[in-house]
Amino acid sequence: MSDPALDVVEFVLTTHLYSDRRDLDENDLPPRFRQVFWTDTPGEDGPGGVERPLKATDDTVRTATGVERPWEAVSDLLFTQRTDFSGEISLTQPEMALEWVHERADDERIATNPTLAAAFEDHDDLEMSVTHEEAREDTRPIHADRVWIDALLDEYFDEEEDAEMLDLVNVRAPEEIETTLEDLVLTGDQEEEIQKLVKAIEHREYLASIGLREIGKLLFVGPPGTGKTTISRALAHELGLPFVEVKLSMITSQYLGETAKNVEKTFEVAKRLSPCILFIDEFDSVAKTRRSDEHAALKRAVNTLLKSIDDISLIRDEVLLIGATNHPDQLDAAAWRRFDEIVNFPKPDREMRADILRIVTEEMDIADFDPEEIAESTAGLTGSDLRMVLREAVLRALTEDRMTLTQEDVVAAVEDFEERDNLKNMDMIDGEGAEIVGDGGSGSHDHDDEGTGHTHD
Ligand SMILES: Nc1ncnc2c1ncn2[C@@H]1O[C@H](COP(=O)(O)OP(=O)(O)O)[C@@H](O)[C@H]1O
Ligand SMILES: [Mg+2]
Repeated sequence: MSDPALDVVEFVLTTHLYSDRRDLDENDLPPRFRQVFWTDTPGEDGPGGVERPLKATDDTVRTATGVERPWEAVSDLLFTQRTDFSGEISLTQPEMALEWVHERADDERIATNPTLAAAFEDHDDLEMSVTHEEAREDTRPIHADRVWIDALLDEYFDEEEDAEMLDLVNVRAPEEIETTLEDLVLTGDQEEEIQKLVKAIEHREYLASIGLREIGKLLFVGPPGTGKTTISRALAHELGLPFVEVKLSMITSQYLGETAKNVEKTFEVAKRLSPCILFIDEFDSVAKTRRSDEHAALKRAVNTLLKSIDDISLIRDEVLLIGATNHPDQLDAAAWRRFDEIVNFPKPDREMRADILRIVTEEMDIADFDPEEIAESTAGLTGSDLRMVLREAVLRALTEDRMTLTQEDVVAAVEDFEERDNLKNMDMIDGEGAEIVGDGGSGSHDHDDEGTGHTHD
């Protein structure tokens, strides 16, 4: 139901209005519009931005709207003109264009274009039910754009000196995160925590005003494959925040002499990118080093980490900190104390497993599929395991050139999975047996990189 003329006029009108109204800023432009005007000349407010006046040329219109022949789409309208020489499309009568758009654009479109919402709001006769403020709230801010993130990182990191650091820290723009909260099955607890967070972020000024500053540090605890990483990313997507991800084992093992500095830099990056989510995975790798007789540089790094956590605040720095661990038993009091909410990620129960199976198979064609039956026979499997089971079933069917699965395929894949899981455990006992047993033994599906995390010296 695309309407090329409306797409083009919306763009041309938006560039016109935005160029005139100095009270509007980048966050009043729809992300797909502002990206064509982005320049990374550092300014007062950041590593780049959008400079006025904005010009609608064949090129910019095409990139922003996807309309191949912009001028053809609008040439028969009374209020448009095109300068042959520059290829610029402009409005002979902006007022008429505004009325024209008002007649055709629905609320949904206006809600994604704060510049237009502002124009209608300030106009005496052109009422719209979406306010300027609402549109701004619904529109992704510029600091969540990939270009903004890249420009900030470029500005902040010396290419040679810090290249290694950028390997350790992974930054994702919310638009790049594919799995959303709808694709995940959450426990009641998890849903509640997310609700609280969303509200806390929304009302952070209020919280600060009543002196509540100690919020926004979460620890996700549970076996591998229960969704800790995926939910954190989905949250970034949901909230429109950049996602800064580090694996602590990498930071503490790779560049020993630099470790404390790297920890500090990680937090610096997060503060620069704020508001954002800082996700620290493998949080337990810290605790381990505290207890054992480790290198002095590593101890320093751990202290730096704990101090950095103390110093960062959702209310003041707009950084939401999420730690994740598969080994809560290895965390000491000093580490626990720093988190204000602990969120449990248990292995899914029968009902959750059935829901996960439904989601995973949504796009698949399975004859007589009975997720309840599969859920019944997969006690102990995580969301990640279930995904693997289904992948196995699909591949098996493909070896027989089938794209329609059967319930039997899935049942067979479950059996396969369990067999493989047994093998895996045997391998653990044979190979690194002494270490694993001495470690107290982790869950049966918990074959992670135990013992390989700290191979420095
Ligand atoms: N509760 C769940 N609902 C849906 N999918 C899940 C769930 N838990 C795990 N998964 C899937 O399993 C995979 C691994 O999850 P991940 O977030 O990496 O687990 P963790 O970080 O806890 O080890 C992801 O593809 C994710 O989509
Ligand atoms: Mg993970």
